[in-house]
Amino acid sequence: MNFKSRNIVSIWDFTKDEVEFILDSAEEMVPIARGEETNTALSGKILATLFYEPSTRTRFSFESAMKRLGGSTVGFADPSGTSFKKGETLADTIKMVDAYSDVIVLRHPQEGSARLAAEFSSKPVINAGDGAGQHPTQTLLDLFTIRQAKGKIEGNKIVFVGDLKYGRTVHSLAYALSMFGPELNFVAPETLQMPKEVVEHVTACDTKVCSGNKLEDFINDADVVYVTRIQKERFPDEAEYQKVAHIYQIKNTLLQNVKDDLIIMHPLPRVDEIAPEVDKTPHARYFEQAFNGIPVRMALLKLVLGVS
Ligand code: CP
Repeated sequence: MNFKSRNIVSIWDFTKDEVEFILDSAEEMVPIARGEETNTALSGKILATLFYEPSTRTRFSFESAMKRLGGSTVGFADPSGTSFKKGETLADTIKMVDAYSDVIVLRHPQEGSARLAAEFSSKPVINAGDGAGQHPTQTLLDLFTIRQAKGKIEGNKIVFVGDLKYGRTVHSLAYALSMFGPELNFVAPETLQMPKEVVEHVTACDTKVCSGNKLEDFINDADVVYVTRIQKERFPDEAEYQKVAHIYQIKNTLLQNVKDDLIIMHPLPRVDEIAPEVDKTPHARYFEQAFNGIPVRMALLKLVLGVS
């Protein structure tokens, strides 16, 4: 399998075998990600992190991954301190950063921006979220988390709940899961249901799909509940957001009859869709999930840089 110099723009860039290879490679990175072992495989390499939208987990975990492997980072968390403010285009910025680094991580509000960046870069570009498009490295760490908790991805009943329209993580994850054949349940208000093209794609891959709007109808049979924030920033107007804000709130009372080994995941940040009291239950998996961003991104950086 050859990942050297490849862009990571969409989860569709990978086959099932490649996904499994990445997850296996990430498994080997865990002791280094925890700081229990040292490794300088990426010494002398530079990662550029270009974040045109806010981020905590994705940016910090990429930077941590690079530094745990002996590499270094340049970049920005807010484009207002860059020549973007003077009107520089993304294409020109990418051409510059291409000369200053070995691999580029980009988060940008516009869908398709990572694909465009890849066209202007000779170095691998990794999509860290492009608007309501995809967030493939989040998908890989989500798959890693499911496999770690359940032993396998196949055969699980997975409930997605929340903003399935604007939540890019659920689009990428649904596509990826369709390679593995679990049952998918989409729980959202009608206006925020999973886009038709995602449902059509996963159904065409023989994935059993069920949709509804009440989490109570699905949670007691679930193996995994994947919760998402209502993406306020992507609503065209505030009134539309207010109609669906705070619609799903997972509290301990809702968990009384769930399976003992149910795991609750969330890409984070959360607002109020999971009560803090749930954090102390054995079902909460979202903080381990966020940690898993480090070993998964370590594996990806090594692979695209062609370092074994
Ligand atoms: N899950 C995720 O993408 O988090 P950040 O927005 O904090 O990077």
